[in-house]
Amino acid sequence: MKSAGPTPRNDLPLRHTVPNGLAVSLRDLRMTFPGQRGQPPVEVIAGIDLDVHVGEFVVLVGPSGCGKSTVLNILGGFQQASGGQIVVGGQPVHGPDPRRIFVFQENGVFPWLNVVDNIGFGLSKHSRAEREQLIAHYVEMVGLKGFEKAYPRELSGGMRQRVELARALAANPEIIWMDEPFGALDYLTRLKMRSDLVRIWQSERKTIVFVTHDIDEAVQLADRVVVLTPRPAKIAAIVPIDLPRPRDMDAPDYLHARDRIFEAMGNLALARGR
Ligand SMILES: Nc1ncnc2c1ncn2[C@@H]1O[C@H](COP(=O)(O)OP(=O)(O)O)[C@@H](O)[C@H]1O
Ligand SMILES: [Mg+2]
Repeated sequence: MKSAGPTPRNDLPLRHTVPNGLAVSLRDLRMTFPGQRGQPPVEVIAGIDLDVHVGEFVVLVGPSGCGKSTVLNILGGFQQASGGQIVVGGQPVHGPDPRRIFVFQENGVFPWLNVVDNIGFGLSKHSRAEREQLIAHYVEMVGLKGFEKAYPRELSGGMRQRVELARALAANPEIIWMDEPFGALDYLTRLKMRSDLVRIWQSERKTIVFVTHDIDEAVQLADRVVVLTPRPAKIAAIVPIDLPRPRDMDAPDYLHARDRIFEAMGNLALARGR
């Protein structure tokens, strides 16, 4: 019998046929929310230009409330920008698109479905045999073997996020939008989830745009870290992290990259404990 081990998928054609190799292209992205109850309008995004290459892992980092989720919601087609050009997969964004998938902080899984049925939820177009093979593949990849029949209420928060990640991957999206997906987990679980995500990304090579306020998380994961200013968000710096994975959090180059991000956020003294 053929093993369903975590080898890269090649069962579906690569759907990225964008000529310039860009998964995302933003030009002068702007967002202003109308003021509530007589308050003035709130400017949240003040002109962002950003390109994300197909297969790239880009992390947006910035202080809480700066507009990170808003950027992601606009990219995902859940909110309409006030201005600018938003091109995803070579086309302007008009609304949510099933070729791209969101992973949120929590409550993404269906509580009434067990692990296997959650992961298989979007796979109705596959034959039963294919579906079972894909589910087994991703169960193993995210480390949930032995929990196939468990329901979300029987799982820890970290395991529920594993289910969600597996479901996102099984649908074979072009892009995964991740909004602080590990934000509700304890520190050690977060560390483990990050290193697992790196391993999974290395084998699947999906385009990932990941939002966090955690600088270490950004340096551990990203090809490039996009540092946003406090609201209204602009790009303060883009820091390429040209370090082999998995990354050693004590290596001088790692600390240097981290310092550059702290510096861009205006917090270097804090980072050095001064
Ligand atoms: N639908 C909305 N209407 C009005 N203001 C909003 C709305 N969504 C977000 N905001 C405001 O926009 C700012 C940025 O929010 P958000 O993108 O969620 O920040 P972050 O994800 O960086 O913490 C916040 O000040 C928030 O209050
Ligand atoms: Mg947010």
